[in-house]
Amino acid sequence: MRMAVFGTGYLGATHAACMAELGHEVLGVDVDVKKIARLRAGEVPFYEPGLTELLQRNIENGRLAFTTSYEEAAEFGDVHFLGVGTPQRRGDYGADLKYVHAVIDTLAPLLTRPALIAGKSTVPVGTAAALADRVQQLAPAGADVELAWNPEFLREGFAIKDTLEPDRIVIGARPGGRAEGILRDIYASAVQAGTPFLVMDYATAELVKVSANAFLATKISFINAMAEVCEAVGGDVTLLADAIGYDNRIGRKFLNAGLGFGGGCLPKDIRAFMARAGELGADQALTFLREVDSINMRRRSRMVELATAASGGSLLGKNIAVLGAAFKPDSDDVRDSPALNVAGQMQLKGGNVSVYDPKAMDNARKVFPTLEYADAVTTACENADIVLVLTEWREFRDLDPDVLDGVVRNKVIADGRNCLNAPKWVQAGWRYRALGRSAS
Ligand code: UGA
Repeated sequence: MRMAVFGTGYLGATHAACMAELGHEVLGVDVDVKKIARLRAGEVPFYEPGLTELLQRNIENGRLAFTTSYEEAAEFGDVHFLGVGTPQRRGDYGADLKYVHAVIDTLAPLLTRPALIAGKSTVPVGTAAALADRVQQLAPAGADVELAWNPEFLREGFAIKDTLEPDRIVIGARPGGRAEGILRDIYASAVQAGTPFLVMDYATAELVKVSANAFLATKISFINAMAEVCEAVGGDVTLLADAIGYDNRIGRKFLNAGLGFGGGCLPKDIRAFMARAGELGADQALTFLREVDSINMRRRSRMVELATAASGGSLLGKNIAVLGAAFKPDSDDVRDSPALNVAGQMQLKGGNVSVYDPKAMDNARKVFPTLEYADAVTTACENADIVLVLTEWREFRDLDPDVLDGVVRNKVIADGRNCLNAPKWVQAGWRYRALGRSAS
């Protein structure tokens, strides 16, 4: 099948490369000329394991190309995927749909033959129905251009696997249309492998995406709330999570207590969901998400308090090594990163903060140019009064305490992700501190 993918960020670039990998002919489209030039040259503009190889392979075999021309894309594609961003609006909680609208308003007038537009971006419920009407007004092919909503559930760091082997495929479509059949063909390999293929109305499909992210955020904040209680009574949240996680109804996944969630999705999605529910008169249903958000943000200040206490009551003039800047491991994404937020707060309290991250240094420098950046763990830790692990990269989880012997000034480590082997650090003579666990 010939398809265009609009937007070449994490979602669009991954989707385009994966669709080509499945054998489709794909044209990636973006208004960002520099990004398109890099993609054409086989370069992925962000870090995602395995994506560079996939991109290059499919450019070489001729199934994947990139353009900035909507005319070319409209001519080329029978299916048009929409994968542009929907960031939080400046000054309020709602999602900013300007990129989604720009694609529809530019593309639809160019559609002169039957086509399917399949939206993948995370949008407020009600968007797909409005866009479908707009497409009918603007497209010369009129009713022959259909719109479906096909939300995406990929996680950064696992984007390829999540796209090629999704847990489920969700399609919001108007009943009786051709959209379902076309999308079944596109995802034939996953469908044949038994992946649930769920067809529903637009509104429910849009809600599946935001409610899934709201559930995940709630699960993380739940365990972080339990971490607060554990801190109050001297309990251990990691043991608690293991114990409740054995109950199949609860499950251990997404029960890792620590600094909480960040990134370009969970924080803005729960806020946009609350904003949309308010517009719909259903705001009471989602007031709990306000609490989910506050518990999450509290973890960051708690981390600063813990580091302050472990540094003798003040951060002023203290050398602080921060290991981790990305919002999670295996990503160079620093959008709403809890790690960088904590690093910034500690600098404001007078600490000399030195940050190291295996992949996110360039992005971190752009967001927080005033922090100091080190080129390796040991450089960041030179003369440190305290070392903080704020993103659970394997490099940090596997860190040998002895490597830092003679490098740091004080052997104090604060584990913001409950990812270190605590007894190993304690045996090596370190003071180990972690969120949701008593001091050892
Ligand atoms: C999230 C969802 O997991 C995807 O299903 C969804 O498709 C995506 O958003 C999206 O909307 O596009 P992602 O933002 O890549 O994916 O990251 P997650 O793996 O969900 O992690 C989010 C944050 O939660 C990270 O900061 C992570 O450190 C934190 N987290 C995760 C915890 O604090 N504890 C956990 O147990 C799990």
